[in-house]
Amino acid sequence: MSQREIARSNGSLFADDGADGFLHRAFLRGEGFNHEAVRRRPVIGICTSWSELSPCNAGLRDVAVEVKKGIAQAGGIGLEFPTISLSEPFIRPTSMLLRNLMSMDVEEMIASSPIDGVVLLGGCDKTVPAQLMGAISAGKPAIMVTAGPRPVSCWRDAALTIDEVWPLIDERRLGRLDDDDWVELEGKLNVGVGTCNVLGTAVTMAAIAEVLGFALPGSSLHAAGSDEHLGAAVRAGAAIVDAVGRGAAPVSLVTEESLENAVRMVCALGGSTNALIHLEAIAGRAGVGLGIERIREWARTTPLLANVRPSGSQLLSDLQSAGGVPAVARELGELFHAGTATAEGLSWDVARARTAPVESAALRAADASPVGEAIAVLSGNLAPGGAVVKPVAGGLRHARGRAVVFDGVADLNRRIDDEGLDVDADSVLVLRGVGTRGAPGIPEVGHIPIPARLARAGVVDMLRVTDARMSGTATGTVVLHVTPEAAVGGPLALVRDGDIIEVDIEHGTIELLVPEVELAERDPGAPPDAPRRGYGLLYDRHVLQPDQGCDFDFLRAVPDE
Ligand code: FES
Ligand code: MG
Repeated sequence: MSQREIARSNGSLFADDGADGFLHRAFLRGEGFNHEAVRRRPVIGICTSWSELSPCNAGLRDVAVEVKKGIAQAGGIGLEFPTISLSEPFIRPTSMLLRNLMSMDVEEMIASSPIDGVVLLGGCDKTVPAQLMGAISAGKPAIMVTAGPRPVSCWRDAALTIDEVWPLIDERRLGRLDDDDWVELEGKLNVGVGTCNVLGTAVTMAAIAEVLGFALPGSSLHAAGSDEHLGAAVRAGAAIVDAVGRGAAPVSLVTEESLENAVRMVCALGGSTNALIHLEAIAGRAGVGLGIERIREWARTTPLLANVRPSGSQLLSDLQSAGGVPAVARELGELFHAGTATAEGLSWDVARARTAPVESAALRAADASPVGEAIAVLSGNLAPGGAVVKPVAGGLRHARGRAVVFDGVADLNRRIDDEGLDVDADSVLVLRGVGTRGAPGIPEVGHIPIPARLARAGVVDMLRVTDARMSGTATGTVVLHVTPEAAVGGPLALVRDGDIIEVDIEHGTIELLVPEVELAERDPGAPPDAPRRGYGLLYDRHVLQPDQGCDFDFLRAVPDE
């Protein structure tokens, strides 16, 4: 047995009759467990990303208590352990810089601890993919319980959800919200713990965990801390004991079919573009190919079924009342592979069959839904490795205009509202140097603001092109994740002010209309200075581009010899 294989079966050490087992039991007795309990198997780790520095995940302590109940009811013993937790609003320069670090923490703790299986507790955007990536690589049976969306608040007599923060910040920027409004709003935006309460990245990733079979069917949209949410946590605790008995390795859940289900679910929900990067990373950990061409085809043919904020009008709770993710899977019909596994060891056809059609403004029938509107993959001479846009988030389907180029966020902030900036409503705003290595960490800064002069004149959307990501709660016609990024010499680095850029969403193209010979003479500029030590150096040397999930090269699955 290799060291890693020994680590993978180290939960059994609690039952060992020799010195190893004696020491394992003796140390656990010190935590108050009795003789019978410490001999009881299986031993389940509860991998929590609870942290007061991660407000979206701050309800996970209560969830862990319920998971532990379920584990005990099924005859197991649950041991909670912490890892790094990543908060979208708090981690600077960007939580994405640390996603792979968290996934390594998760993998190594699962692999090296004396546990037979694990329940993953995640919520805020990066915590869910980091846990899935780590658990897949660690190899022990794993089930996930996500934090659930936080309550919707009320401001000026209307429901206030997190996606409204972007237009409200613009209102403030344009001087339309005074100091009193601003302070009042600060207390209204988040009135409880839990993840962002629209189909942003966190909820999209929770739905993916469900579709891939890591979370219980129907569980990802339960409101944080609700009876249904805590009840699902108890069931997940019982389910992991069963999964350990079945020896269900997490890698078996990540198949070409389950990945197609996941991509189609993102599109059917109108979910976050960030999910595509995380899915590439998850696929890479499992050694399954994904790739932009398949994503392009699935996205192009999937109906946008959900009518939920930010791309629709209804609330997440409305979609959950209509049956949640299993109901969306049902409406996808033949486009969804119903034979794939769920966390309970059943297949998705069982979960789908449980949902009866419900009349709901939050969930359209497939034949009444726009197709290919949620996400579109683009490629062309400006993005040979692909780029992504969320058509439903903006108004432009075909645009062509003069580039106005910004090199990094500081340059953008300095000049975007400059009255002398040579820009009009047909210009294409380009923000570069903010990709995986350029920023570094491919931050969510792609939501380039409309120049104040144009915004005041009533311009609400413009074509924007960037190698950054964008918050799943933001809107606008923004072409994101341009690959390869400018910092590694991608064509985006060659764009000059005044060049013509053309984007055609229907045909999936993005072109820089400058002759090849002229481009060949242009200088892409020097890459940013590499960090000289620490995690930054590791990141810089090993991080991959978005088409490979921005994972580290050495963390992807190694093919069997
Ligand atoms: Fe944490 Fe949105 S900021 S889920
Ligand atoms: Mg986000």
